[in-house]
Amino acid sequence: MKIILDLDTGIDDALAIAYCLGSPDAELIGITGTYGNVTVEQGVKNSRVLLSVLGYPDIPVIPGRDRPWGRGPASPFSPSEASSFIHGSNGLGGVEVNEYVAAEDELLGGEATEESSCVTSTEDGKDISGESAMAFYRDAVQRYGDDLTIVPTGALTTVAEAMKLYEDVTNARIVLMGGALTVPGNVSAVAEANISQDPDAADYVFRHGTNVTMVGLDVTLQTLLTKAHTHQWREQGTRAGKLYAEIVDYYIGAYATTSPYLGGYGLHDPLAVAVALDPSLVTFYDTNLKVDCGGRTIGDEQRMQDPVKRTHVALAVDATQFVEELMVRVGNLFGRAG
Ligand code: BDR
Ligand code: CA
Repeated sequence: MKIILDLDTGIDDALAIAYCLGSPDAELIGITGTYGNVTVEQGVKNSRVLLSVLGYPDIPVIPGRDRPWGRGPASPFSPSEASSFIHGSNGLGGVEVNEYVAAEDELLGGEATEESSCVTSTEDGKDISGESAMAFYRDAVQRYGDDLTIVPTGALTTVAEAMKLYEDVTNARIVLMGGALTVPGNVSAVAEANISQDPDAADYVFRHGTNVTMVGLDVTLQTLLTKAHTHQWREQGTRAGKLYAEIVDYYIGAYATTSPYLGGYGLHDPLAVAVALDPSLVTFYDTNLKVDCGGRTIGDEQRMQDPVKRTHVALAVDATQFVEELMVRVGNLFGRAG
């Protein structure tokens, strides 16, 4: 399966990249950058440096729309204090990846490798129109049809805009992380973070997408990672594994402060990738969703009679199976990346 990830890279987004690259049944053909945990510019930079460390520097990373619908040049997006607390000021738990990699290389007694300076120019991260990302979707949908799945794990502005511009994109299979149907939100009593960033765009995706799967807090908060898992990555002794352990431990610490009752951190974004590849991990409720202006995902009362249900909402998950899959897949990837 060809996959495009639309990320606000972010710690769990970073793990979504690793899950995808570690999956033999997936081919990551590109990443588009959205905003949420961080700005588009920072997220694009984070995605690029992680792809390099993981051994895939040539996968394209294309900046998307950098602010919600209706916001003009005078209102740039900036992450909330809560996002910066959970993901760190740079989105990767404050870990400066290049410095980390250089220090590791020195420890190993080698010269700094190419990966030590793997961040490429971020100049193109400044495209606020996001048009090349939308054209990337259009071309991929035309080229790959049903073999393609788009996995958005941040604000849905770029995906919605692409659907508006190119009708073909409305027929793409979309498996998104976002929303909460049967549980409270995580930024308000009813709203989940990704949906709340641009409720209008999310509403557009639910109304116009013909094949949308929602992987929301209903299931992602049932799938947890703990320090016992990141310990295994450290023990593996690879640079990539140790780097990811460092980044994810920050996130686990933040979650211990904000949601101590969970006992770990919710594997939001990697679960969306996993469901894209293996829908049998979850059980679905099919319905027609809308998003209200408070960012709540809820059934659309005006489409109750419609026999066609456009959204498949994941409501139950085999958490044990998923976490096992994650450990195997990212473990293999870290081993390969070295
Ligand atoms: C979602 O919000 C972001 O913080 C995470 O990366 C995830 O995509 C969880 O609500
Ligand atoms: Ca995300």
